[in-house]
Amino acid sequence: MRPIVLCRGEYLNDFLSKNTHEIRFRNCKGAEELGFAGKGLMLNSDYKSWTFNHHLFNQAILSPKFTDEAIDHTNKLFNELEIYWSKRSYSMAAYFDTLSNEKSDHQSARVINSVKLFQALRKLSYKANDVLQGMEFINQKLNAIIKSRRQEIEEKPLDEHLPHDMLTSMIIKNTLRDDNYIETGEATRPMTDTEIRVNILDGIFTGTYKIGNMLSFIVYYIAHNPDVKKKMLKEIDSIFQDDKMRPITKDDFYSLSYCEAIVKEVARIHPVIHLLTRYIDKPNKVAEYHWPADSLFLINVKSVHNNDDYWEEPNKFNPDRWIVKNFEPKKGSFLMFGGGLRLCPGRKLATIELVCLIALLFRKYEIDLVDMNTPIKTTNSGTMVLCVDLLVEIKPRN
Ligand code: HEM
Repeated sequence: MRPIVLCRGEYLNDFLSKNTHEIRFRNCKGAEELGFAGKGLMLNSDYKSWTFNHHLFNQAILSPKFTDEAIDHTNKLFNELEIYWSKRSYSMAAYFDTLSNEKSDHQSARVINSVKLFQALRKLSYKANDVLQGMEFINQKLNAIIKSRRQEIEEKPLDEHLPHDMLTSMIIKNTLRDDNYIETGEATRPMTDTEIRVNILDGIFTGTYKIGNMLSFIVYYIAHNPDVKKKMLKEIDSIFQDDKMRPITKDDFYSLSYCEAIVKEVARIHPVIHLLTRYIDKPNKVAEYHWPADSLFLINVKSVHNNDDYWEEPNKFNPDRWIVKNFEPKKGSFLMFGGGLRLCPGRKLATIELVCLIALLFRKYEIDLVDMNTPIKTTNSGTMVLCVDLLVEIKPRN
């Protein structure tokens, strides 16, 4: 198959319009073998099934109540993260127990299960047999989690409050527990366990790596741009005053506009997804040319983001460009979350997590790079750019 690389925003109009070019990849045997074909979102090329999942995924993750829950969870995760720093280990319970001789205070069965699940998820980029075995294990674990949550929900009286996390929302959607329940047939049926499992896996695969890598890039760019850091700290301090402990609220999140500008500017200058893909299974017109069926398009995000036809001084790291009144990037020139039908459904969650993490980190800690002279080390993994390592020195801020 001949791939066609697109490097200009104006060639993307067809892909970024809301109702065309819904296929990301050609169907392949691997996706079938792993149980992803025709399921979930990321690798789903079956339009009817994708529409159903897309609708329910979006409802679960874009609701105002989910926003509250996401901010609450980011606060909790950050508090947990800090505990390990004081023990001189730099990660969460699962990693802590793997890397350290000391063990965390969490129930061991929970930690052991979580370590096993994430080790299996990481192994998915290894050899074919490992991948298949890993997938079987992951499916078993996720099925057990879904089953147990279903049971917990069923045991609760119908009028009892339920949390708004993605798993609960997907289980109750289009059932009597759903506040917006209307019985109208196939389009509004509840999700099966397999559908929920693949959507949760999509969330893990497509969400965690990007946020983790972007946070490393953010720390790197803040360290190299003292004026940006000063402005960011001014915003953070004006919101939290001297309080370095209170949880972040929804109002704080909406007030952290300079922190959000930093997130967008890092995504522009150093996109974690440097290639988007679209596939046509029938002859079609794209960028004013006619293409045969079975053509794959690679959208070169970095070249669009760094083009001076769309961006003033594109190589300058300048978050201020995002806070100019009425500023909107030119059409097709900012692709942090892709666009069109396959636009990232996790965009709000990603922004909440990154903005809140910047504020939680920098209001309390001074973060410096160990090596200010070497450029950040990255590696390409398919469509993603990953941070290889970034050594930092963290100490409490005065
Ligand atoms: C900084 C964080 C993130 C970035 C930069 C990002 C970026 C992207 C991009 C560029 C795409 C492809 C869009 C396209 O082809 O037009 C995508 C797709 C997707 N993202 Fe995100 N994403 C992030 C976080 C998340 C999170 C937290 C979730 C969910 C929990 C998520 C779920 C998805 C899913 C399910 C798709 C596939 C959508 C579909 O095919 O319909 N993403 N993301």
